[in-house]
Amino acid sequence: MKVLVTGAEGQVGTEMVRLADDGFRVVGLTRRDLDITDQDAIARRLDEHEPDLLVNCAAYTAVDRAEDEADLAFRVNADAVGRLGQACAARGVGVIHFSTDYVFDGTKEGAYVEDDIPNPLNVYGASKLEGENRLRAAADRHVILRVSWVFGRIGRSFVDTILRLARERDELTVVDDQIGTPTPADAVAATVRAIAGHPAGLEDAWGTYHFSTMPAVSWCGFARAILAIATDVGLLPTVPRLKGIETSQWPARAPRPLNSRLDPSRLANVLELSPLCWEPCLRVYLATGVKASRA
Ligand SMILES: NC(=O)c1ccc[n+]([C@@H]2O[C@H](COP(=O)([O-])OP(=O)(O)OC[C@H]3O[C@@H](n4cnc5c(N)ncnc54)[C@H](OP(=O)(O)O)[C@@H]3O)[C@@H](O)[C@H]2O)c1
Repeated sequence: MKVLVTGAEGQVGTEMVRLADDGFRVVGLTRRDLDITDQDAIARRLDEHEPDLLVNCAAYTAVDRAEDEADLAFRVNADAVGRLGQACAARGVGVIHFSTDYVFDGTKEGAYVEDDIPNPLNVYGASKLEGENRLRAAADRHVILRVSWVFGRIGRSFVDTILRLARERDELTVVDDQIGTPTPADAVAATVRAIAGHPAGLEDAWGTYHFSTMPAVSWCGFARAILAIATDVGLLPTVPRLKGIETSQWPARAPRPLNSRLDPSRLANVLELSPLCWEPCLRVYLATGVKASRA
């Protein structure tokens, strides 16, 4: 199988490229190789590489900045995704695309299933939801994989932020009433590969899925685990105090859902996946020193 990966320098894109082998030939396209808002360039790249599958890891992911850059967020996360879908459908190329827990408003009691009604609270979530809808309209042969709280070896995740602040400050204040599941970028990539290699073939598996880990935790609980493991593996000489606060005390530009839990059962049934715990994955990331900076 030949797979074209857009956004190949992002957290998930990097891991997709790392999965390449003889049976899963990956061509990674960075933003410099392909700006997904350039319709002609999309067509050129598809015709040049003739992939079986396109995995769209390119996205506008700056949740707070999106509140002030709605046009750009929608151009990348919605318009471009629709056009990618059209270009792929015209060539018989399947598409795997990512969406987010932020399409939901977080008012549900339990974990969100795929058929729950989205109601994004912020511009980023609205742009991703519009991207889902454009892709569904453009291409039957698609998978939309909703993921949450992604962390990976390429910087800029919550893990990096906590490690950086822990070196700068004596006390960290972190929101303690938003609940979700941290998701390792390499596990997302491995799941994409499992979908692509589904024994019954992708034809049986097109649709929308949730992928998440366990157990659910608050941002503050996640920060506590990061600090504990980072100290354990010698990344932090001293541990700052950690204070949990409420969302209402944190002046974020974009509102966020209090409940970000995604129920992964549908995908787990299709792929016969065992539940994945995020904490051992976090330990591997921190212990192996793979927090490479892009600088
Ligand atoms: N990160 C999370 O916590 C999270 C949570 C839920 C869902 N998701 C979704 O998961 C997917 C992967 O996220 P990620 O964490 O890997 O994101 P990421 O690390 O921000 O990577 C996104 C990549 O897309 C590139 N990009 C931005 N605009 C582009 C354009 N017009 N053309 C081509 N490339 C462009 C970025 O390049 P630059 O660096 O040059 O901007 C970056 O390399 C996205 O669809 C995201 O919405 C992520």
